[in-house]
Amino acid sequence: MVSTTLNTVTEEASKAPAILIENLGKSFNFGRIKVLDDVSLRVADGDIFALIGPNGAGKTTLMGCMLALLRPSRGRIRIFGKPPDHIDVRRVTGFLPERPSFENWMNPREFLTFHQMLAGRSSDQAAKKEIDDALAAVELENVARRQIAKFSRGMLQRLGLAQVLIGKPKLCFLDEPTSGMDPPGMEMVRNILKRFRKDGVTVVINSHHLDEIERVCTRFAFIRKGKIETEEAISTLNRKLLIAKWPEEEKPDIDLLTRVLTECGVTLADQNDGYAKILLTNRHDGPKVIERLVQSGIRLDEVFFDRRSLSELFRPAVQQQSTQTSAAIKEENEQ
Ligand SMILES: Nc1ncnc2c1ncn2[C@@H]1O[C@H](COP(=O)(O)OP(=O)(O)OP(=O)(O)O)[C@@H](O)[C@H]1O
Ligand SMILES: [Mg+2]
Repeated sequence: MVSTTLNTVTEEASKAPAILIENLGKSFNFGRIKVLDDVSLRVADGDIFALIGPNGAGKTTLMGCMLALLRPSRGRIRIFGKPPDHIDVRRVTGFLPERPSFENWMNPREFLTFHQMLAGRSSDQAAKKEIDDALAAVELENVARRQIAKFSRGMLQRLGLAQVLIGKPKLCFLDEPTSGMDPPGMEMVRNILKRFRKDGVTVVINSHHLDEIERVCTRFAFIRKGKIETEEAISTLNRKLLIAKWPEEEKPDIDLLTRVLTECGVTLADQNDGYAKILLTNRHDGPKVIERLVQSGIRLDEVFFDRRSLSELFRPAVQQQSTQTSAAIKEENEQ
């Protein structure tokens, strides 16, 4: 039964992307709180796709819409060519929520058996092996008979991931799977994602751990204030940082440098006595920026591209909005 559905969905996937979102909008409180604004996105089958952005940007809300847990106010979502609440989609979808909740009185083994039964599986040898494998994958074998109520936050996250694994999903939504995880836990999540990638499972992951995202994801979208600002392959992060070195004795006028860069639509990320780090929005902007710097009389010794990390790319934006969020919370508290 499940395998027939899997085949159907896989056939659909060859024609349709895993996820297609068109002009999605989501508001709460009868339109008063606008959270998602004209979001369009395409996630290919087999992508490990990261949604990154500051707190309150709309990542969890977007995931909720993709999972049909929230009804969009506008726009359209298709998963393997079907509406997100279609039974064929639900059957092949796994989900680790931002705040997972469990049957706390059970132990992990009972909990996973219970969820296998809810999914219509009989508890045969194969099902038991699946549970053993999932517990081993999340390194919870040693506490498989301990009551879940006594678990730490990171252990609960691990159990949530085990629950996702036993469903053998074709599409997975993981909302901050590494939150509360210690470094070995992060590595464990990384290994699970690598396994998903090898098996062709499509994953959408929300995370603030940008270094981890960079290591395992294939694409990312940066979302801020409910809008997708950037969407690209992780591989294109190369050649987005331009390093411009000036002669030792000729430090340029930094105001002039900043003005020229602003005119070119790029940002001065950092500068010290010897060089400027320039953040490009498009890697093809490099030659134009160099030409304008030289035309404006800034003497340069050496210019080269460097790899730009995700955190370098988005730290200014994240900090800016975090400050705004903190200010808004402070204002609310003072009222
Ligand atoms: N049910 C709701 N009613 C009203 N506002 C909501 C509701 N759910 C979310 N929001 C608001 O929508 C915005 C986006 O929330 P969301 O949880 O999607 O952000 P996020 O990007 O996942 O943030 P985080 O990184 O903190 O998890 C926030 O301002 C939040 O307060
Ligand atoms: Mg969230």
